[in-house]
Amino acid sequence: MILDKQIEEKILKMQDLQSPPEDETLRQYYFIGKCREYVNMLKDELKRTPTADVVTFGCQMNARDSEKIIGILEKMGFEIIEDENADFVIYNTCTVRENANLKVYGRLGSLKKMKQKNPHKIIALCGCMMQEQEVIEKIRSSYKFVNIVFGTHNIFKFAQLVYEQFKSQSMIIDIWKDTDKIVENLPSERKYSFKAGVNIMFGCNNFCSYCIVPYVRGRERSRKPEDIIKEIENLAKDGVVEIMLLGQNVNSYGKNLENPISFAQLLTMVEKVDGIERIRFMTSHPKDLSDDLIEVMKNSKKICNHLHLPVQSGSSRLLKDMNRHYDKETYLALADKIKKEIPDISLTTDIIVGYPGETEQDFLDTMDVVEKVRYDSAFTFIYSKRTGTPAAKRDDQIPEDVIKDRFNRLLKSVQEISAQNAGRFEGMTVKVLVEDVNEKDSSLVTGRMSNNMLVHFEGCKELIGSIVDVKLNECCGFYYMGQMV
Ligand code: SAH
Ligand code: SF4
Ligand code: F3S
Repeated sequence: MILDKQIEEKILKMQDLQSPPEDETLRQYYFIGKCREYVNMLKDELKRTPTADVVTFGCQMNARDSEKIIGILEKMGFEIIEDENADFVIYNTCTVRENANLKVYGRLGSLKKMKQKNPHKIIALCGCMMQEQEVIEKIRSSYKFVNIVFGTHNIFKFAQLVYEQFKSQSMIIDIWKDTDKIVENLPSERKYSFKAGVNIMFGCNNFCSYCIVPYVRGRERSRKPEDIIKEIENLAKDGVVEIMLLGQNVNSYGKNLENPISFAQLLTMVEKVDGIERIRFMTSHPKDLSDDLIEVMKNSKKICNHLHLPVQSGSSRLLKDMNRHYDKETYLALADKIKKEIPDISLTTDIIVGYPGETEQDFLDTMDVVEKVRYDSAFTFIYSKRTGTPAAKRDDQIPEDVIKDRFNRLLKSVQEISAQNAGRFEGMTVKVLVEDVNEKDSSLVTGRMSNNMLVHFEGCKELIGSIVDVKLNECCGFYYMGQMV
């Protein structure tokens, strides 16, 4: 990653060129410069700075992509706001479950009405949902007011697509099936000054039978460690103290690089970056979690005491069908080993209820894992049929009422256990990264413990971004009330 000032200098330099240069990063700088001219014209016409709003659905990966899109929009001259009345609205979509898609279609209806009132309004759709053929067909035929559609593999081309839209005024659709390209050094705006997500890999090769992600995010590609470290060093220079390394399966990081390295090795390199105080990562696939990683976590002063280890199901039979490459026993043994090696760790998980063919016994195995591992928290999902995945073809889908009943039983158990776990730090003094002034009471600030739990305590906004010692006086369900010491 290069610094903002250097990017600005290069954008200005590109403006003198007659045609776009070969190098992909510089090409995009060139198009950002071209878009600036259009944004300035629009500014003269509107007699105010044109505004843009990026709405993000889905996971941390999408949140990070949105920061890149915002970075480019800012460089073009848009003012970023959080209001869909903006002159340029972008939906960065998710398709992991059906309701994610329904949400987008619902909201597009209201965007259409806003566009009728603002003829300058540009609407762009991107993200995982756009990688699905039937979605594109539907947008082409029923959502003709959309201006730009692009996918997950060509986000780096955003400036170019905006420029083409400014020029042609017709609907631009550009979707790539896959890519092996990683374009570095594009602008990016961070949501927080003190913490940042850093992509370490893109895509997924696991093809869990229920999951659409490998189809919409493409094959696994790792970034080079030197690019990652450079980015983190620059973030540290910029005041960032906490980073979250992002990938669908961070434990398989680096395997396909020209000079392969392991995730544990990468963490050791990240640990050495001065100024970074906390390291988080997401997500760990249990099948690839190595002893080396546990060792590195155990000896690290910076890696947070938190491991998100999605189990999906406790039934060995279903896990096999899901293509997860572990069974109930190996998962439980892994969780035990982690807890033994890192005693105060918080384990969290994802669980799917109602996978095709799930019997009561399969479900009880899931309940059993929850009771044995005693997660600090768990995301519970109702299975959603995703077109194109192997699980969607099965004819033994589970009836809704059975799923609902199981889901409620699971949720109750998960919540009871996490409430019991939550209190275990009461009375202790822990490090807290202050993130914000409390929404309800401005005499308080809110921060996070290493295990990601929220703590509220008396303090002022100047504390935001610093790590302070806080005594945890009282556990109130899922958060603590504390006092700075
Ligand atoms: N790469 C991560 C998960 C990314 S998707 C991992 O493997 O752990 C986040 C979560 O969504 C998954 O862990 C899973 O629990 C859930 N999920 C994925 N596909 C789903 C589907 N078809 N229906 C319901 N939940 C699903
Ligand atoms: Fe989906 Fe499995 Fe890949 Fe996670 S590891 S993104 S659940 S296919
Ligand atoms: Fe959704 Fe795409 Fe993330 S499908 S969960 S936004 S990788």
